[in-house]
Amino acid sequence: MERSIKITKDGPYIVRGGIPVHEKVIVLRDGVRSWEDGRELPQSDSYALCRCGRSSEAPFCDGHSHKRFRGEETADRRPYRERAELLEGPGIDMTDDLRCSLSRFCHRRDGSAWDLLPRSDDPEARNEVIRAACECPSGRIVAIDKDGRIHEDLLEPSIYIVQDPGKDVSGGIYVMGGVPLESEDGEMYETRNRYVLCRCGASKNKPFCDARHVPGKYKDTRGGSILGKRR
Ligand code: FES
Repeated sequence: MERSIKITKDGPYIVRGGIPVHEKVIVLRDGVRSWEDGRELPQSDSYALCRCGRSSEAPFCDGHSHKRFRGEETADRRPYRERAELLEGPGIDMTDDLRCSLSRFCHRRDGSAWDLLPRSDDPEARNEVIRAACECPSGRIVAIDKDGRIHEDLLEPSIYIVQDPGKDVSGGIYVMGGVPLESEDGEMYETRNRYVLCRCGASKNKPFCDARHVPGKYKDTRGGSILGKRR
């Protein structure tokens, strides 16, 4: 079966095609963010991920907790290049569509990608802009060489269920490797290498995460979240 994610009306995401799913934890060491393994999750060819934030089996749908959930998709469906703003630096350019999941991989040791861009004539700063862009789960920023070459890591199709102990919250669903995403109405979203889906149910930019899980203090503790074990 082809890899895909289908959004169901006021219900879960149906994931098909045996896409590996892992719980991953954002960790910060010596000013550098990375991913650490979380709980082991069961793998299967097809599964349903919660998008209402209420499942007792999180990150999976429990089949009933979304009964009163209204999950209307409100995100702009235009392709990234039409939505994103071009920001120019001396050594590299960057595009930014403001679609942020607050994972903070763009916060580098010596400043954010936006701080580093004006200094990108320095090879180290330029490289950090590239790393910030390539590691941004939501695909908000993209680093582009002056000759138009886009920097993008080759990512295997997979899904990370994000936990963020630094903010004491559970994060969204990080989808990587160009997994096609189908709307509830059958329309396809632009296929991207990196995007983050909302699973707390609170995003105002559904189906994508807009970081509202942070002020909303979303924790998937009913599913036995790793956050509970780390406190
Ligand atoms: S998971 Fe980030 S806004 Fe819902």
